[in-house]
Amino acid sequence: MENCYTDAMESLDGKAAIVTGGASGIGEAVTQVLAEAGIAGLCIVDRDGDRAEQVAADIRAKFEVDAIAACTDVSDGGQVAAMVARTLERFQRIDILVNGAGIAPMVRWAEVTEANWRHVIDTNLNSAFLCMLSVLPTMKKQKSGRIVNISSAGAILGSVCAHPAYGTSKAGMIAMTKSAAKEFAPDGILVNAIAPGTIDTPMTHSFGEQQKQAFIEAAPMKRQGTAREIADAVWYLVSDRSTYVTGVTLHVNGGSLLV
Ligand SMILES: NC(=O)c1ccc[n+]([C@@H]2O[C@H](COP(=O)([O-])OP(=O)(O)OC[C@H]3O[C@@H](n4cnc5c(N)ncnc54)[C@H](O)[C@@H]3O)[C@@H](O)[C@H]2O)c1
Repeated sequence: MENCYTDAMESLDGKAAIVTGGASGIGEAVTQVLAEAGIAGLCIVDRDGDRAEQVAADIRAKFEVDAIAACTDVSDGGQVAAMVARTLERFQRIDILVNGAGIAPMVRWAEVTEANWRHVIDTNLNSAFLCMLSVLPTMKKQKSGRIVNISSAGAILGSVCAHPAYGTSKAGMIAMTKSAAKEFAPDGILVNAIAPGTIDTPMTHSFGEQQKQAFIEAAPMKRQGTAREIADAVWYLVSDRSTYVTGVTLHVNGGSLLV
């Protein structure tokens, strides 16, 4: 398939990206959008290595993209460092990092333990920090880079049905985004977050039909968003359509925070 970006400002021609959580849902949609935008190199990172390899193969078949898969637990600093080193060796640059890996287990306050709290914070928040820590030296050297952290409306509302640490981790991502945006703006590195509302992915399927309907009912647009609608917001934040945007949280939620 031809790369189908519409103009030079939306093109990612010659660039290289890392997408965590790229084997499913929002992350997978992001890999497709980056490929459509003409990205040259793509590292699809997920703890589900087989599925990440399938997504990479699919992209290689459809686009002229050097897509590779990395079976990585992004909450493990050693594994993240190895994944970033491999990406850099392959593509000689890292222009874009999208931190999409995350979990939202349905755990009520009564079932919260130190171990499951730490697991959610490690998977959702510390993972994004570790990935940023590993790519920033390269982006600083390049004097350019884009980082997009996938937060959640839960950062503002608190967890709805997921573990209480979920909303906490997503609020942490927003503060981390702002801190890094201020620190690295002089290096040409733009750091932003996206806070999706309820999106139709395996994560929300895992909540069950009743919860899904409750989310839909609570949303002014009376539907879930699609993974593609989040991926398009990522595209904006990594393209030259957003050269003066840093430290923001883009709320893509069909108006869900209005009610
Ligand atoms: N779906 C929604 O309604 C929604 C709303 C707001 C925010 N989000 C956020 O968007 C992101 C993507 O969610 P999704 O809905 O696509 O979910 P998903 O379950 O479809 O995808 C998440 C992916 O992350 C991977 N992952 C989980 N832990 C990992 C780890 N330790 N190391 C590497 N990979 C790991 C999973 O294997 C999976 O492929 C998450 O951060 C989620 O919190 C989702």
